[in-house]
Amino acid sequence: MGDGQEQRPASPADVYEAVFVPAIFEPLTRATLDLARPQPGERVLDLACGTGIVARRAAPLVGDGGSVVGLDLRPGMIAKARSLPAPEGAAIDWREGDATALPFAAGTFDLVLCQQGLQFFPDRTAAAAEMRRVLADGGRAVLAVWRGLEHLTLFRELTEAEARHLAKLGVSYEEIALPFLMGDEGEIRAALAAGGFTAITISEATITASFPSADRFVRDVETAYASVMPQFVDDPSAFEAFVAAVAADLAPALARYRDGDGVRFTLKAHMAVAQ
Ligand SMILES: C[S@@+](CC[C@H](N)C(=O)[O-])C[C@H]1O[C@@H](n2cnc3c(N)ncnc32)[C@H](O)[C@@H]1O
Repeated sequence: MGDGQEQRPASPADVYEAVFVPAIFEPLTRATLDLARPQPGERVLDLACGTGIVARRAAPLVGDGGSVVGLDLRPGMIAKARSLPAPEGAAIDWREGDATALPFAAGTFDLVLCQQGLQFFPDRTAAAAEMRRVLADGGRAVLAVWRGLEHLTLFRELTEAEARHLAKLGVSYEEIALPFLMGDEGEIRAALAAGGFTAITISEATITASFPSADRFVRDVETAYASVMPQFVDDPSAFEAFVAAVAADLAPALARYRDGDGVRFTLKAHMAVAQ
């Protein structure tokens, strides 16, 4: 990492997969699958799959006799997921689609996994009802949603810096902080209950995020965010100025979490199991 921009992947989905997945979503996937325990032969839906890390790790667990579908709203994410090497085990069917109107018959899946997706859905009750509808009797949904920013070291300082500099581009705090604005477990419980789930258990997972380059941290994170918040890169020169301003603001906090050339810090998520 870090020796020349010409070697960097270009698209937001590429950067998401190259930078964010190993640093954050791969460790979180271990927590999600530890809780979900996919069994051989099960039919799994990875909802809001992004570039597909959860689906790829679930496929060997359900094996050849099982099946995995990864579904995401963004064509770029699905294209990236399709381009990656297939894992052992179940074949993965990658689908573009909307969590609030799933293109599957009732009772199609034994397990729905939704890692850091629920907070992005415009109608969370509709999405929960769709999860419930596509689950077979006795099936379960397992979701991960970030806790509030007060539980997310470094991301709190990062989000505050982003908010300061993006306000002048007309981007609201709610847009910037969207991934972290469903920190109240009551909101998760309420959405799942409104969608028809009756047995809902919520626990907490703590993961260690580990980015290999402190020097590139801000640029990498902002470019990866652009895969879920495209307005970050609408104007390339404004984006460059924004990255420089955020990096300057974040320097003291980054120094606290520095680990060799990289950065390490902890993040907490609520983990919900709904039946
Ligand atoms: C933070 S990413 C998480 C991706 C993946 N689950 C992971 O753990 O790496 C959130 C994803 O939600 C997707 N998303 C947002 N709204 C959606 C919707 N209505 N239906 C399906 N996917 C959606 C985005 O495209 C994005 O890929």
